[in-house]
Parts: sequence; structure tokens; C-alpha cells
Amino acid sequence: MTTPTLFTPTQVGGLSLANRIVIAPMCQYSAVDGCMTDWHLIHLGHLALSGAGVLTIEATAVVPEGRITYGDVGLWNDATEAAMKRVLDGVRAYSKMPIAIQLAHAGRKASTELPWTGGKQIAAADANGWQTEAPSALPFAEGEAAPHALTRARMDEIRDAFAEATRRAARLGLDAVQIHAAHGYLLHEFLSPLSNTRDDDYGGSLDNRMRYPLEIFDAVRAAFPADKPVTVRVSGTDWVDGGWDVDGTIAFAKALEARECAAIHVSSGGLDPAQKIPVGPNYQVPLARAVKATVSMPVVTVGLITDFEQAEAIVATGDADMIALARTILYDPRWPWHAAAALGGRVRAPNQYLRSQPHRFKDLFDEADDDTY
Ligand SMILES: Cc1cc2nc3c(=O)[nH]c(=O)nc-3n(C[C@H](O)[C@H](O)[C@H](O)COP(=O)(O)O)c2cc1C
Repeated sequence: MTTPTLFTPTQVGGLSLANRIVIAPMCQYSAVDGCMTDWHLIHLGHLALSGAGVLTIEATAVVPEGRITYGDVGLWNDATEAAMKRVLDGVRAYSKMPIAIQLAHAGRKASTELPWTGGKQIAAADANGWQTEAPSALPFAEGEAAPHALTRARMDEIRDAFAEATRRAARLGLDAVQIHAAHGYLLHEFLSPLSNTRDDDYGGSLDNRMRYPLEIFDAVRAAFPADKPVTVRVSGTDWVDGGWDVDGTIAFAKALEARECAAIHVSSGGLDPAQKIPVGPNYQVPLARAVKATVSMPVVTVGLITDFEQAEAIVATGDADMIALARTILYDPRWPWHAAAALGGRVRAPNQYLRSQPHRFKDLFDEADDDTY
């Protein structure tokens, strides 16, 4: 049987992936003062045994004010770095899956409650709240307090914080950095004309709105080892008339590629509560396809990819180079094993689990070459 495309190896810059399955970044809201906890060891640990090609650490704030909630992970000081090192040491003792980190600033969508306690904005004066900051003093939703419009000096601080967090990520031996420019957070807020009404060099024209996200890219790229990839996650559209759209995304993708961006991950939405998203299987694939037609770097698609044949069709037709899973792999952390079994692929499994191979799938597991995989 020929290897299904989903299970063929691929490259993201200098990083080799065993297959085309990406574990999307997923906030766990379980950090304390930005420090990862044992939850992250359990969560990332079991995902690192899933057989996917790469694991992406959740949106990790580069400054405390850049957290979505007070439970978000950060990488802004020695304590947050040490906490992440402890978790990574545990995970990497038993898994060789490459690990990427998503670096983020939540902009005007920061300072909120945890999703399971309501997710509402917390006022700056209240416990666990802080003053939000964004390109322009426009709140995300009606009734929310407005963010402070960023001064050029604060933009420099945040840019330097992205670079500093990247140096910490390099010290931690992380395999890739993904810059979060999607879902209505700070960098997406610069891109979209709905959230960026600045009248300086960073607002107005498309070039001006792309300027700060590109400056962040340059700072991160310069701070990470040259042989390791820096990628970007974007929203391909705001799903709102007059908002950020696929044409802007293509222009941004081209500018990123010219700066040696190693891959682009195309998600959508999150900027405006008025968004009308045509949610359904593959609903974001057309956005990835449109970007892929114009760039040569790998393109990742995501969103309601749940079925093995569905995933295989996306990569086999070339709509995208890789598929990312979020809720799907939380629900079924052995999804890549099941996909390999159904499609005729192979995955690596830890020695401790080799005896789990069902008799009817004798060739499912690659041999482990030592006691990790
Ligand atoms: C629990 C949870 C946490 C998430 N956290 C992040 C995040 O940290 N960064 C991000 O870019 N997207 C985040 N997302 C969005 C997912 O990465 C993904 O784009 C989205 O859920 C659609 O994929 P799915 O249909 O496979 O879930 C999160 C989604 C979930 C369900």
C-alpha cells in the first residue's frame, strides 16, 4: 500500500516532521503567574505521545498584560522560563515529537475571566484584571472598557519582549516559534481596519497596518537560531464586511515569505463580535488554498477537521500542506494512531505502549530506536 500523504514526512524550514498532522496551540488557563504547572506536564505529555508531527504550546504571553486570562502561560522572566523548562524536561524524556511555541499578546482581548468562569472582561481595578492595550482605543465588545492606544515607546517594549521571549524559547531548546497574529489579538488588531484607526505610520494603508506585525516578525526571526523555523498564525478573514480579508492575508503572507517566514497557519475570525462564520467541516480550507496559490512556504489549515479521509483529502489535493487539530485531538489524543490505522500509515509509539497495537493493524507502529520515541 502506498503511504497516505498525511503520513509522508515534510519540512518546515530546517525542521523535519514525521507527518502532516500539527497539534494546534490550545490555551489551558492553568498557569500561575505565567508559570506552567503539573497540568501542562500531563496535557503536553499525553499529546506528545499522540503520533502527530509537531506539538504547539499554547498562546504564551510575552508580557503579563498580554495574557488573555490570569491563567495563561507566559515567558517573560526567569520564573516562567524555569517552570516551562521543568515541563519540557518531563515531556522530552519520553517523546521526540518536535515542540513549537506560540508567542502572543492578547491586545484588547486581554484581562478576561477563564472560559469556564464566564470569560468576561475583568476591569483593570478588580482582582486578576489589568489595563488592556491595543493599536487604537476601541473596545472589542460593547460594554467593555476601552484599551489604551499603544504609544510608539510601548510598541518598542512589546517588540523587545517578543524578542526576549524568543531568546528564552531558544534557550529551552524549542524547535520552532509561531507568532500569533490571528483571532483578534494584538497583531491581528494592527492588521484589521476595524480595530486599527491609527493616523501614524502604523494605521491607514495596508502597508502601514502590516508594519508592526512585520517588525515583530523581524525581531523574533533575528532572536531565534537561523536554522530553526519561525512561523506565523493568521486569521484569513474577519468574516465582517470592511474588515481584514483574504486579499490582505495574501499580501501579508507574501511579505512574511520575503522575510524568511517558514510556514503560515491560516485560521480565521476572532476580531469582531459581528463576525458571521460559515462554520462546518473544512470551513477554513478555502482560505488556506487561496494563500497557498500565492506563496511557496508550507501552508497549514485548521478548523473542524475530524475525519481521517477528510484530513487525507486536504493534503492529497494540495489545498494545504498540513492539517492542524485542536478540539479533535483533545477529544481523541490517539487520533493520529487511528488515522494511520484507517489510512494505512505508520506512527511512532512509545515502547511502553507497543503491545496496544490491535492485531488487525500489524504494521501500525514504527520501531522505536531507543527508549523514547
Ligand atoms: C481549548 C482551546 C484553546 C485554544 N487556544 C488557542 C491558542 O492558544 N492559540 C490559538 O491560536 N488558537 C487557540 N485555539 C484555537 C485552535 O487552535 C483552533 O484553531 C480551533 O479550535 C479550530 O480547530 P478545531 O476545530 O480542530 O478545534 C484554541 C481552541 C481551543 C478549543
